[in-house]
Amino acid sequence: MVFMLLLVMLTTCAAVPQDLTGKMFTFPQETNTAHVRLTTETKELKALTVCLRSFTDLQRGHSLFSLATPSAANDFLIWKDATSNTARLYVRDYVAGFRGVDYKLNTWHSICSTWDSGSGVIQLWLDGNPLSRKFITSGSNIPGPIIIVFGQDQDSHGGGFVTSESFLGMMSDVHMWDYIVSPTEIRNYMDHVNFSPGNVLNWSALEFQITGRVLIEDKF
Ligand SMILES: *[C@@H]1O[C@H](CO)[C@@H](O)[C@H](O)[C@H]1NC(C)=O
Repeated sequence: MVFMLLLVMLTTCAAVPQDLTGKMFTFPQETNTAHVRLTTETKELKALTVCLRSFTDLQRGHSLFSLATPSAANDFLIWKDATSNTARLYVRDYVAGFRGVDYKLNTWHSICSTWDSGSGVIQLWLDGNPLSRKFITSGSNIPGPIIIVFGQDQDSHGGGFVTSESFLGMMSDVHMWDYIVSPTEIRNYMDHVNFSPGNVLNWSALEFQITGRVLIEDKF
């Protein structure tokens, strides 16, 4: 009875949105378990924008944002390569590479990406600067159920984590929209000035569950 009650309470707590303004997730260890799983009611995406800030000293490849569905483990993935100045974006398991990515270690970076299934064009932004736009895939929406994970790369829907693809460091200010956010708004996000919070993921009202050693700390 007490156990049941505890279970119900835990489930309820996990579903309560938290305001993480001024906070960050710290991933202090390389593991194949520690992660944050996000809850979203969004059923299907025909366009999207994701923005986040990250801080790491990882020189190997790592996942910054992993969105999987039953039909594609990399339905939307922001991936930093091992080589210092390249990154990759995935949509529906298709991939586009980006060069000239000035991703210094031990410093906060603001990263945004937009994609639209109509044009199939994807874009990456880093620290206020847009990178060259690329075609990745068009005509097919991202279908639900959607699972979004920070700290690990999903190689299957909600799992398939490996230590060598995990994230180590800090992450903050994550927002996701189900439409293309304008360049002006993206610059505002990157400059830390007023912007409309994400309607899919909102850092001021985030629903998530932590597994393993992930801390919520004050951002610095
Ligand atoms: C984001 O969360 C804040 C705080 O709960 C809320 O005021 C705002 O309306 C939310 N924005 C969206 C787009 O959901």
